[in-house]
Amino acid sequence: MAEFKRIVILTGAGISAESGIDTFRSAGGLWEQHRVEDVATPEGFARDPGLVLGFYDMRREALARVEPNAAHIALARLEREFSGDLLLVTQNVDDLHERGGSARVLHMHGELKSALCTSCETRSRWERTMLDRPPCPVCRAPTLRPDIVWFGEMPYQMGRIYQAIEACDLFVSIGTSGAVYPAAGFVQEARAAGGRTLELNLDPSDGSHLFHESRHGPASVLVPAWVDQVLGG
Ligand code: OAD
Repeated sequence: MAEFKRIVILTGAGISAESGIDTFRSAGGLWEQHRVEDVATPEGFARDPGLVLGFYDMRREALARVEPNAAHIALARLEREFSGDLLLVTQNVDDLHERGGSARVLHMHGELKSALCTSCETRSRWERTMLDRPPCPVCRAPTLRPDIVWFGEMPYQMGRIYQAIEACDLFVSIGTSGAVYPAAGFVQEARAAGGRTLELNLDPSDGSHLFHESRHGPASVLVPAWVDQVLGG
């Protein structure tokens, strides 16, 4: 592991599960409690904005009751101590990587603590509710929406992500089911470019067979052990 120089890490809901945030596709997970079409599509928002704003207000408020776990903290240590290039890409919209100490996190599916104004298209840091239709801090229009990439929308910074994947010598996927594209396709892109690929997940994901190696167990155990291995400690 110590020989790798350019690492891309993709994280999903599984890394935050032990912090107490529900994953999407587990039994009783978010997509069993809510219909994706209602709360995670532009059409759902147009149909019933109140339902959608309330759903994300609830998830934003829940962040105050959770803490980063050993996996987030280990990735922050890797960012500080790894001497090569590292890109941490997360599909998660929580802020647990940042609160675990990671300074550079690419949120490809957006962030709960960010608002997007549909009038002036400015993205603003947002900690409060949106259901009460507060004005945009920039243009003052009451037209904020959660800065979340919904189904049918383009994830953020795909150019930068693909560039890093094409150049990486190790791609690591942590706590994601591999059910949602384009993230689910990163492993094949990395392999096609000649990179080694590693999965760290509670159980085999949909795309487990695509990885050179797949380790199974809780992220709070697997991730710190892998970081120790990379840093040679
Ligand atoms: P999923 O809920 O689809 O998958 C979570 C994965 O984490 C599963 O494979 C679990 O087995 C695994 N897991 C659960 N607990 C774990 C633990 N303690 N340690 C390690 N792994 C664990 O969540 P994502 O793959 O992140 O998109 O979902 C991808 C996207 O689908 C999300 O970003 C979201 C959702 O629809 C949008 O909302 C745009």
